[in-house]
Amino acid sequence: MLHSLKYLGGLLALTGLGGADLESPGFGTLIAGHVVSDTADLDSTLIPATLSASTTTCTHGPNTRACWSDGYSVATDFDKRWPSTGKTIFYDWTLQNATCDLDGRGVRECLLLNGQYPGPTLKAEWGDMISVTVHNRLANNGTSIHWHGIRQLHTNGMDGTNGLTECPIAPGHSASYKFQATQFGTSWYHSHYSTQYGDGVVGPIVIDGPATANYDVDLGPMPVSDWYYTEAFTEDQQQNLSLQANPPQKGADPDTVLINGTNGLDGGLYNIVTLTPNKVHRLRLINTGLDNALRVSIDNHQMLVITSDFVPIVPIDAVDSVMLGVGQRYDVLINATQHYGNFWMRVVAERACNSTNNGKGQAIVRYEGGTDSTPTSPDTAMGGSCDAPGTLTPYVSNTVGSEDAFKSQARSLDINLGKSGIAPQNQNIVVWGVNVTAIDVQWQNPTLEYVLTDNTSYPTTENLIELSCPEIWVYWIIQEVESGPVSIYHPMHLHGHDFYELGSGLGTFDISKNLDSLQFNNPPRRDTTMLPAGGWLVLAFQTDNPGAWLFHCHIAWHISQGLGVQFLESKQNIAIPEQFADQCSAWKDFERTALYLPEGSGL
Ligand code: C2O
Repeated sequence: MLHSLKYLGGLLALTGLGGADLESPGFGTLIAGHVVSDTADLDSTLIPATLSASTTTCTHGPNTRACWSDGYSVATDFDKRWPSTGKTIFYDWTLQNATCDLDGRGVRECLLLNGQYPGPTLKAEWGDMISVTVHNRLANNGTSIHWHGIRQLHTNGMDGTNGLTECPIAPGHSASYKFQATQFGTSWYHSHYSTQYGDGVVGPIVIDGPATANYDVDLGPMPVSDWYYTEAFTEDQQQNLSLQANPPQKGADPDTVLINGTNGLDGGLYNIVTLTPNKVHRLRLINTGLDNALRVSIDNHQMLVITSDFVPIVPIDAVDSVMLGVGQRYDVLINATQHYGNFWMRVVAERACNSTNNGKGQAIVRYEGGTDSTPTSPDTAMGGSCDAPGTLTPYVSNTVGSEDAFKSQARSLDINLGKSGIAPQNQNIVVWGVNVTAIDVQWQNPTLEYVLTDNTSYPTTENLIELSCPEIWVYWIIQEVESGPVSIYHPMHLHGHDFYELGSGLGTFDISKNLDSLQFNNPPRRDTTMLPAGGWLVLAFQTDNPGAWLFHCHIAWHISQGLGVQFLESKQNIAIPEQFADQCSAWKDFERTALYLPEGSGL
């Protein structure tokens, strides 16, 4: 196993524990119709979801998407309140070895849930309980299923992160994941068993709830993904060799791009999205890929962006295209006001994030009632930046922690942000460099096992940071230390929390210069964001959810090589599920005779 991450140039993070001031976020009076100010463009009929004083009593519908039910609306602070529907949504999935030919270029081995790619859509309503039973019928692999972006409030044991929250589910065994949808919107689930999800163990999550703009038709999830013709564990080894070479090399590019699991450019089928003329449609974009940041556009159509990951935002109007890093989501509205016809949806690797791909994705957007021809709409140059599609302003406003407390702590930091390393600071600050120690978890001895047995002798390679104070703000300054030939943007993802993005930039974070540029008042909020190549990122979140949570780069090859940390939050309050012990003993039995145990971090 490789414990060095030279190619990454190293990341450096500090956690600063700020003042214990968990105040209720101050969002003021909602003013009807304030969400979109510019009504003079193409999307003029995308009127905002009207909010009135009586948001708590109105009924959800095409012209009142802001409303939900019984005292809940898009203005509800979902950190603190969510409906309890009393319903449980059950799913039963079987994971099996299969073969697939997703773009017509040839058959390869893959691993599929219920025989399909993408896997079944997990669909529920805000406040529902969800119960998914997974039967592992794979020949040689364990598995664990992670519900990306789901907060798992007080259900850390259901997070599906093998090596942290459970032992993998052994072949021939089953496990049930049960949790509540305390947030709503669009996400995805995937295996966290090394790079296994690259072979197909992924699917969309849709949690119905209110929205910040009105629409007529919900087109559902639209997963987009890079795709390799090589099986993921083999590809992982090759990527590993490239990245550990001296000097480091970028690994092979993905072979193609899939849109909702298919691509017609090479002889496969085109995915078809059908629009109803003159209606507004909601499309839920998800990057379920392994490596590439992807840019999505639809010829002749603009979009209105209404979410960042699971967070409803003040809508961003007249967007030509959106870039999604691996793990990110944007829900967009599309107004079908063009002439009847067929248009290309295009999904390409975004070079500005240093992503490259040997192929590109195309799908057909077709107006109902028109002809069924292949689109001829011309390609327009798009993109050229690795930024969000605009200013991401959470609809429910929050103020992050104590700006003064954070700044005075940061100013007293005795560290060199241009260097990596592990240097314990005062009691509130930890400095961490992942190129010194790559995370490497033990599948058979997950973090929750340490918690259960009161064992605090965590191996260094657990990259474990304890956050033992509940209800405080923690801050992370993440620095990509050196830029090199393979310095690229990293999609950083946090489990168990959304984070607030106080700022990011190129070069080395400079306390004297960059501190004052940080945004504490209603900054962008989400669960996956881009760390600029050779740059920095400052994030904050509240310690309001006990658990062992992973924080990692979502490029599959990078987390496999250890680009992650875990933090153990309020461990005395973690509830450990009943199935924990049995699942671990089944796994240990399997491991004794296992044919393959993938190299790398296990994540
Ligand atoms: Cu998509 Cu660690 O998660």
